[in-house]
Amino acid sequence: MANHAGNYTPGNGFERWMDERLPIIRFSKEHLMDFPTPKNLNYWWTFGGILAFMLVVQIVTGIILVMHYTPHVDLAFASVEHIRRDVNYGRIIQGTHAVGASMFFVALYVHMFRGLYYGSYKAPREIIWMLGVILFILVMATAFMGYVLPWGQMSLWGATVITGLFSAIPVIGEPIQTLLLGGFSVANPTLNRFFSLHYLLPFIIAAVVVLHIWALHVPGNNNPVGVEVKESRDTLPFHPYFTMKDLFAIVVFLIPFAWFVFFAPDILGHADNYIPGDPLVTPAHIVPEWYLLPYYAMLRAIDFDVLFIEARLGGVLVMFGSLAILFVLPWLDRSPVRSGTFRPLFKPFYWVFVFTFIVLAYLGAQPAEGIYVLLAQICTAYYFGYFLIILPLLSRIETPAPLPASISESVLAKSKKAAA
Ligand code: HEM
Repeated sequence: MANHAGNYTPGNGFERWMDERLPIIRFSKEHLMDFPTPKNLNYWWTFGGILAFMLVVQIVTGIILVMHYTPHVDLAFASVEHIRRDVNYGRIIQGTHAVGASMFFVALYVHMFRGLYYGSYKAPREIIWMLGVILFILVMATAFMGYVLPWGQMSLWGATVITGLFSAIPVIGEPIQTLLLGGFSVANPTLNRFFSLHYLLPFIIAAVVVLHIWALHVPGNNNPVGVEVKESRDTLPFHPYFTMKDLFAIVVFLIPFAWFVFFAPDILGHADNYIPGDPLVTPAHIVPEWYLLPYYAMLRAIDFDVLFIEARLGGVLVMFGSLAILFVLPWLDRSPVRSGTFRPLFKPFYWVFVFTFIVLAYLGAQPAEGIYVLLAQICTAYYFGYFLIILPLLSRIETPAPLPASISESVLAKSKKAAA
């Protein structure tokens, strides 16, 4: 357990007065400034801060966009064009929000794969991880609904495909689909619902982030060697050491972000989404944004019936199952060693997992036919096999490398090696 012993003493009469009524200064000092943080955190640990920063960027730019956007099927596309062409700095604000969604997912995936490699989901951090999975699902839902708002061809047809998935669920599927659509097809009520939820969800995400960080501040951070904090010299105060490190990482992260916004704001979008949505013209290929592609590939990988489960329902179950499985991950991987660095057998399987996930993203953008479907089936099998077979099995058979006695020992060993 991280040492939380607060050493705040109110500096003046006002602080004392506040401290007895609303100890917000004490809270900030203990949790934002003095919080004992493992001193060996590497740059992969800056992505949580980057994500928090990105959430603020999305909310601020989104609120400005709403001032000029019109959520109506006859006006939505034109209102986005109006923002881009007529509104002062509209091009930059709209570009930042659209590119920001992609950058958010870059950070999100790095953050999650960091957690998977360093075993940050293991006890006592299961709740942090599970709140993270909830965040992941909420962010995906928000991004999907945001993509519908410009009401381009891909907005309309993407919404048609994704809401159509629900109709595959027996009995309750169709009522859910009708509820989502606000009718029997994607139309104005759908756009309004998605607009309303797209505006609401980021605030729910912000609230879940607060819980996520609260849960993190109970056991404290995991770290690259995965050994718990044992003595006070294992940690450094969060401020200034990690505030500065996080700020530096945010600035570096802003470089490619700004490059996209200023030089290629539309490169990540699909060309068809610059054509106004038309319910009478179906695009040749309906593809979601890149960050949803791995899950889209898994959805389409199931093109066969299994007993009484039809292919379409099978795909939906696999897609939702691929997210649901993340919730139980802390109980699937029982290896007592957290960090992948000390797990010789885990490492190759982990990197194959990363590779298959990237291949799934590629396959999600290809037509669902021939070799693409076969490859998607193999990668989907590996995705589930990794969680359900490989990790539980490795927990039993793997002999980990010797762990350092403490965080300080590992840091000192490194600097001694460097000096030598
Ligand atoms: C809006 C999205 C998210 C935000 C703003 C966020 C924010 C943060 C922050 C600030 C930290 C502490 C710094 C760090 O370890 O990087 C953290 C830690 C953590 N997050 Fe997230 N997070 C988000 C999504 C997720 C997701 C999707 C997952 C996994 C499914 C996740 C899992 C974790 C875990 C396991 C830790 C503890 C890491 C450790 O100490 O090793 N987070 N998060």
